[in-house]
Amino acid sequence: MRKRFSPQQHLNPQNSFAAFRAMIESPELDFLMEAHDGLSAKIVASSGFRGLWASGLAMATAMGLRDANEASLSEIIDVLDRMEQAVDIPIMLDGDTGFGNFNNVRRMVRRLCKIGIAAVCIEDKLFPKINSFFGVRQPLADIDEFTGKIRAAKDTQTNDDFTVVARVEALIAGQGMKAALERATAYRQAGADAILIHSRKPDANEILTFAREWAGRAPLAIIPTTYYTTPTAEFRDANINLIIWANHTLRASLSAMKKLTLKIAETESIADTENDIASIDEIFSIMNYKELKHSEEKYLPKK
Ligand code: SPV
Ligand code: MG
Repeated sequence: MRKRFSPQQHLNPQNSFAAFRAMIESPELDFLMEAHDGLSAKIVASSGFRGLWASGLAMATAMGLRDANEASLSEIIDVLDRMEQAVDIPIMLDGDTGFGNFNNVRRMVRRLCKIGIAAVCIEDKLFPKINSFFGVRQPLADIDEFTGKIRAAKDTQTNDDFTVVARVEALIAGQGMKAALERATAYRQAGADAILIHSRKPDANEILTFAREWAGRAPLAIIPTTYYTTPTAEFRDANINLIIWANHTLRASLSAMKKLTLKIAETESIADTENDIASIDEIFSIMNYKELKHSEEKYLPKK
């Protein structure tokens, strides 16, 4: 992977807005990795990723909810706040449809800027949305309604570098390339800083066609969850700016937890699990318990 930060190299959190903006505007391909809580955020940051995708699907699932706007904005903000405090790399919120109309978008953006979330992606579906991979009913917002949300977001942001990404769901909804390009053009004209074009095809053909037609009119982000076999080099050659690995820490933990709990339930023992799981020392290490010990020596009264 290129453009990696070493885990020791921290961004100034004050600059996470500018860092994200520079990342998405750079002609070089970069990557966001999904995280859904403080721990997964820390793991992603320590793996060298330069930014986080706060996935709606993953955060909802981790809360025991469905990716259908079952979680409220406040519940999402709580998670984001913890993630933001856990890492120094910028976070882009998957803001779904913005939790309502333009007015809810304004409230969301105000709160994101306040807690240091560098970017939001909003999608042109209807509230309450449903995950783009579930079912076939994916009704789209009117273009005028959605461009109003984009304008409201840009007018509300309190940090100049806050990034608003407009997500085009026309291909997901089966409306074709022409509609996708028309929507992306309107969203860019309304002030979106970047476009996310989504697809649920098993190959990248429609994404690569879109990228060619789009021809770099604004930074372009993609989510290759279903077309995962396409080599990353093809996206680099197509001048994609940002790849989002959208749900993989959540899916990894789901598989691992399921396998482990079934084994413990079956064997009525934890004797055979020790080598499959992180040690308690690893928890102390990733959470930097050492720092707490040093600080106790510094701040607690000496006996
Ligand atoms: C998410 O991670 O919640 C996304 C990406 O929006 S997708 O699940 O592909 O819709
Ligand atoms: Mg989502």
